Amino acid sequence: MVKNKIEVRNLNLHYSQNHALKDINVFLPEKEISAFIGPSGCGKSTFLKTLNRMNDLVDGVRIDGEVLLDDENIYDNRVDTTILRKKIGMVFQQPNPFPMSVYDNVAYGPRTHGLKNKAQLDEIVEKALRDAAIWDEVKDRLKKSALGLSGGQQQRLCMARALAIQPDVLLMDEPTSALDPISTSKIEDLVTQLKKDYTILIVTHNMQQAARISDKTAFFLLGELVEMGETETVFSMPTDKRTEDYITGRFG
Ligand SMILES: Nc1ncnc2c1ncn2[C@@H]1O[C@H](COP(=O)(O)OP(=O)(O)OP(=O)(O)O)[C@@H](O)[C@H]1O
Ligand SMILES: [Mg+2]
Repeated sequence: MVKNKIEVRNLNLHYSQNHALKDINVFLPEKEISAFIGPSGCGKSTFLKTLNRMNDLVDGVRIDGEVLLDDENIYDNRVDTTILRKKIGMVFQQPNPFPMSVYDNVAYGPRTHGLKNKAQLDEIVEKALRDAAIWDEVKDRLKKSALGLSGGQQQRLCMARALAIQPDVLLMDEPTSALDPISTSKIEDLVTQLKKDYTILIVTHNMQQAARISDKTAFFLLGELVEMGETETVFSMPTDKRTEDYITGRFG
């Protein structure tokens, strides 16, 4: 039986007066790819960020409910967010390499967690870059600035940076929306490969992308999770009229 890596129960999030997530209940199976789709402003990014407690930093935010990671509530007072974020990595819409070398970008996380040994760092950096399918393109320029890479290379570097901390879960918020079709296809292949080791959540505006790579798809609308199910079913026989209207392009 597939284990649920994450279980979200009765999750509500308010940004001051704005009720941005409304009673979300969802299970995310381990080592599967779950895609989140829905119109702009429906709460997809907000939802993703509640899973690694990045919304905690927002002024006036109020979060109720439970998010269980391996059966432990990440909103419990005793949870250390640094350790939490080591378990849950994130990649953003715009590639955001740090203004430092390719090598230092990837070594950043492990170093932050106290690793100093050069040989071990070298090994982690190489593995992460290989796993992110960019090693061959950067192996001769590890000491050069990451800002000199192309957008698609920068995004794969950011994936390597996320992988270097060996998370269990990878959150990706529209990771390919700033990329050309070739880089997009590289990232999609990569995500499909990574599924054997990671639980992956991806927000995308590209419904073909969701259909291509995800096992489960969830449709959000106005802060509500309208439906979630097997990707094939959601796209071929959605149960809710609102999902059907969205995927057939009648609105949004
Ligand atoms: N830091 C914040 N402070 C206040 N309100 C916010 C904040 N971030 C998001 N919101 C509001 O919460 C709602 C959901 O926003 P969110 O960014 O989660 O949507 P989204 O589905 O990711 O949209 P998009 O597809 O455009 O990225 C919106 O009404 C937005 O204005
Ligand atoms: Mg968003």
